[in-house]
Amino acid sequence: MVLTCPHCKKQHNIDENLIPPNIKKARCKFCGNQFPLPGRQPEPLAEPSQVAAATRQQGPRRIGISISKGGVGKTTTAVNLAAGLSFAGFKVLLVDTDTQGQDSFMLGVKPKAGLTELVTEELRPEEAITQARDRLWLLAGGKSLAGIKRLIDRKDFGGERTLYDALTPIEKDYDYVIVDTSPGWDPLTVNVLFYVNEILTPVSLEVMTLQGLLEFLKSISAIQKHRKEVALKYILPTFMDKRVKQSMGILEKIEELYGPLLCPPVRYNVRLSEAPAYGQTIYEFAPGSPGAEDYRELVRKVAGNPKLLR
Ligand SMILES: Nc1ncnc2c1ncn2[C@@H]1O[C@H](COP(=O)(O)OP(=O)(O)OP(=O)(O)O)[C@@H](O)[C@H]1O
Ligand SMILES: [Mg+2]
Repeated sequence: MVLTCPHCKKQHNIDENLIPPNIKKARCKFCGNQFPLPGRQPEPLAEPSQVAAATRQQGPRRIGISISKGGVGKTTTAVNLAAGLSFAGFKVLLVDTDTQGQDSFMLGVKPKAGLTELVTEELRPEEAITQARDRLWLLAGGKSLAGIKRLIDRKDFGGERTLYDALTPIEKDYDYVIVDTSPGWDPLTVNVLFYVNEILTPVSLEVMTLQGLLEFLKSISAIQKHRKEVALKYILPTFMDKRVKQSMGILEKIEELYGPLLCPPVRYNVRLSEAPAYGQTIYEFAPGSPGAEDYRELVRKVAGNPKLLR
């Protein structure tokens, strides 16, 4: 068979019969990249482990990945945090509330239904939810969510709890519900903040986003007047490049202002931008990359367990 390295695109002619059955990954002789062999599931990074079970809680933790600014790594974070937690042994539901519908693309699945059908009750929850990996399920987003926004707008009262009403009856089966949000501020974003209890905000160190962070914090305060349970819990610096002075300057400023909320940064890593085209998480596409390392660190931070995914 011919294997093409997902990283350098180099083609390798390999006799399939010579690959022992226990070997699940190939290493490109040309660039050194490791990638899963087709038809052989990569090993989960950890067994559905006692470690995970030990930290499992009653009912799910609901975490929204949100900030109004676009292109800061919300979807990359939502997908790789959700997948990392599932590899660590937790049961995770990833909810995509963005009309761009990128989460399914990044996971390499093509759901026939998703969040829209759950909210409109066109389908039963088990029909609206797609299993994307072991222990990882997806409520897909996409263009049809525009209809949900109209539905929310038309409600005379209680529109902001539409998502809450749809998700709470199905959430009990999961340890984590991770919600990806769209850029900007719209009825669905407000709905997300009326559902989640914790907010994780990615802040790109590439561009000056502190202003964006401040504005987003004001929006959260406005919601907190109606719903005290929701709080900004994590600030995740993304696109960190130590060679760029500005990057380090922004990081120092965030540390000064929001120190306790600060997560270890995710470095700029080209592998993170390549993985979606292969429908793979960073752990599957480039398990030894800085991107995979950084997102494993985030999984440990969020789960509060330094032993996970070692
Ligand atoms: N740490 C990183 N290093 C390099 N590229 C990255 C990194 N994080 C994300 N990317 C890439 O940057 C782009 C934007 O990331 P992503 O889609 O996650 O942002 P987003 O905040 O969800 O965007 P949007 O606001 O449009 O939903 C994508 O192409 C993604 O692959
Ligand atoms: Mg996104």
